[in-house]
Amino acid sequence: MPKLERLPEPNIYQAYGIYLLESKHRLIRRLKKAYQPSVHGHKTWSSSFLLMDYLQHNPMAKKSCVMEIGSGWGPGSVFCAKRFKAKVTAVDIDREVYPFLDVLAELNGVKIEPLVSRFEKLTNKQLAKQDLLVGSDICFWDELVKPLGRLITRALEAGVSRVIVTDPGRPTFYELCDRMAKKHKVSLNEWYAVEPRYVTGEVVEIRSKQ
Ligand SMILES: C[S@@+](CC[C@H](N)C(=O)[O-])C[C@H]1O[C@@H](n2cnc3c(N)ncnc32)[C@H](O)[C@@H]1O
Repeated sequence: MPKLERLPEPNIYQAYGIYLLESKHRLIRRLKKAYQPSVHGHKTWSSSFLLMDYLQHNPMAKKSCVMEIGSGWGPGSVFCAKRFKAKVTAVDIDREVYPFLDVLAELNGVKIEPLVSRFEKLTNKQLAKQDLLVGSDICFWDELVKPLGRLITRALEAGVSRVIVTDPGRPTFYELCDRMAKKHKVSLNEWYAVEPRYVTGEVVEIRSKQ
């Protein structure tokens, strides 16, 4: 088990060097009375820990520009900002996720740029500013496969060097990987994370063939 430092109050936990809040933490309980994310952005999903572990082993350059797509509460965004001092934009279709993201960012002493948008509406200009695109558990419906595929292709064509997506192993995620493998360099691997507990899943890294 990783060695955890003493935490300042109950219902806070640590993973990969960042602080996170349990659903029963007083601030989360309070926020949930006012904001109700409705597209599954209502908690920290386990695939975000796969993303953190993967990036720990396959790091980015310090101060990279990162866009997290389908950020939800933004555990991946906070990790990139904290660990790599990345300049992070957190994209989500659901504006109700951002109060939760703000609390996590504040708790960890980082700043994250929020951007309410659906994947398909992100412009090539917005994508061209990024070094990396990351996402965890974002391909969970059939109707998300094609928009995500098109977004990834546009991002690579706009100059993004790495696209990394983690997933528990849903059929829709594998379909996305198959589609991407026809056009781009794709590396799909089983992965596990060890913090805050052992979880398994998949990680795909997609790069341009050029
Ligand atoms: C399962 S949650 C994962 C959240 C976060 N990445 C995590 O691992 O904790 C999926 C997130 O994707 C967002 N989402 C779903 N469809 C989207 C779309 N078309 N464009 C942008 N965000 C979307 C949801 O609002 C939700 O916050």
